[in-house]
Amino acid sequence: MGLNRFSSLAGTLMIYAMVLSESWWSCHGCLDEERSALLRIQSSFNYPIFLQSWGEVADCCSWEGVGCNFTTGRVVYLDLSGIREEGLGDLYLNVSLFRPFQELQSLHLSGNFIVGCVENEGFERLSGLDSLVELYLDENKFDNNILSSLGGLSSLISLSLSGNQLKGAISVDELNNLTSLQWLEFGGNEIESFKSIHGTGYDLLRLRNLEYLGLNPNHFNDSTLSSLKGLSSFKYLNIAYNQLKGSFNVTELDALINLESLDLAGNEIDKFVLSKDTRGFGNVSFISLSNSTSNGRALPFTLLQSLTKFPNLRTLYLDENNLEGSFGTTLDKGNLWY
Ligand SMILES: *[C@@H]1O[C@H](CO)[C@@H](O)[C@H](O)[C@H]1NC(C)=O
Ligand SMILES: *[C@@H]1O[C@H](CO)[C@@H](O)[C@H](O)[C@H]1NC(C)=O
Ligand SMILES: *[C@@H]1O[C@H](CO)[C@@H](O)[C@H](O)[C@H]1NC(C)=O
Ligand SMILES: *[C@@H]1O[C@H](CO)[C@@H](O)[C@H](O)[C@H]1NC(C)=O
Ligand SMILES: *[C@@H]1O[C@H](CO)[C@@H](O)[C@H](O)[C@H]1NC(C)=O
Ligand SMILES: *[C@@H]1O[C@H](CO)[C@@H](O)[C@H](O)[C@H]1NC(C)=O
Ligand SMILES: *[C@@H]1O[C@H](CO)[C@@H](O)[C@H](O)[C@H]1NC(C)=O
Repeated sequence: MGLNRFSSLAGTLMIYAMVLSESWWSCHGCLDEERSALLRIQSSFNYPIFLQSWGEVADCCSWEGVGCNFTTGRVVYLDLSGIREEGLGDLYLNVSLFRPFQELQSLHLSGNFIVGCVENEGFERLSGLDSLVELYLDENKFDNNILSSLGGLSSLISLSLSGNQLKGAISVDELNNLTSLQWLEFGGNEIESFKSIHGTGYDLLRLRNLEYLGLNPNHFNDSTLSSLKGLSSFKYLNIAYNQLKGSFNVTELDALINLESLDLAGNEIDKFVLSKDTRGFGNVSFISLSNSTSNGRALPFTLLQSLTKFPNLRTLYLDENNLEGSFGTTLDKGNLWY
């Protein structure tokens, strides 16, 4: 009898499951509109092998790389990183293909041999997607033109464009529109400076919530670095492997009182310049000066000496610098690690 009750319960459950999968699941598990948008993306990406499972089952929420909100049944996460092989050739992206995903939060398009966008179908087409907080475009072939299409993505919190073909002076006017941005990655390009139609004066980059900027490696030098001076929310700066040489003028970056971590590896800095009124960098607890002697120079003693001016410095990386002998007593602060 127990068994009977059990099997009738199992039968009822099975019927529920079928009802769910046939109606609720296929209606609400994945919207028709979003399923066909995914299939259009699959074809515009020239059917990469990775996506060949797409379409085998109706519920697109279970397709590889797709994530849904199970309350609304809408696509919120789309990871299409590294799905196109080089043999498929360069791709001009039609960004309008992503417009149906009205609740999209996170879009990953890294490593797909994308050279740019189809004319009038750039990222400006996503400006209505108010949930979009993450956009990863790393390791493609985007050039400076991409920047002018990003200004409407005002909900973005993280933007990554590392390993692309950004070069020379890049324009920040549209970027400055991204007022929620906290995390910005530009490493692996050949950027020399930021520029604005409003001139090169004070406060070039005005991202009031920015906490992290990655510029490792690029071609910034000491004079172009000053465009960071308005970023008072800043906590982490990675400017390793750029072209910083000689004195690093901290006073110039005096507004950066919240900076905690500074990666300066692979540059040729001789010393940090601060006056006794300098407040900038007062909260810096981590500095990397790794690999600063690859041009054959010795690590300047003035550099090590000037580090004693950072009251909260706890961790210092000095690896890959051919260090020999002893430093003497100037650095006996007890809290520095070599
Ligand atoms: C899913 O959508 C519902 C309704 O819009 C929302 O309340 C909920 O926070 C969303 N869940 C996630 C994980 O985003
Ligand atoms: C881009 O995609 C949209 C949406 O699928 C489509 O309407 C439009 O014709 C496409 N544009 C081009 C140039 O292919
Ligand atoms: C920049 O932001 C302003 C205010 O939110 C908006 O009116 C403008 O259209 C944005 N620019 C672009 C290119 O989207
Ligand atoms: C720094 O780079 C800018 C832009 O490339 C250049 O105009 C300037 O001469 C450079 N300054 C130094 C000190 O090298
Ligand atoms: C450092 O920058 C400050 C503020 O811009 C300036 O007054 C000072 O002369 C600079 N010092 C050096 C050594 O360049
Ligand atoms: C460290 O940051 C706090 C705010 O987060 C600020 O009030 C304080 O002045 C900073 N410390 C120094 C030494 O600048
Ligand atoms: C040190 O820097 C040189 C020149 O920039 C680079 O070729 C080398 O790979 C770096 N070494 C390490 C361990 O990163």
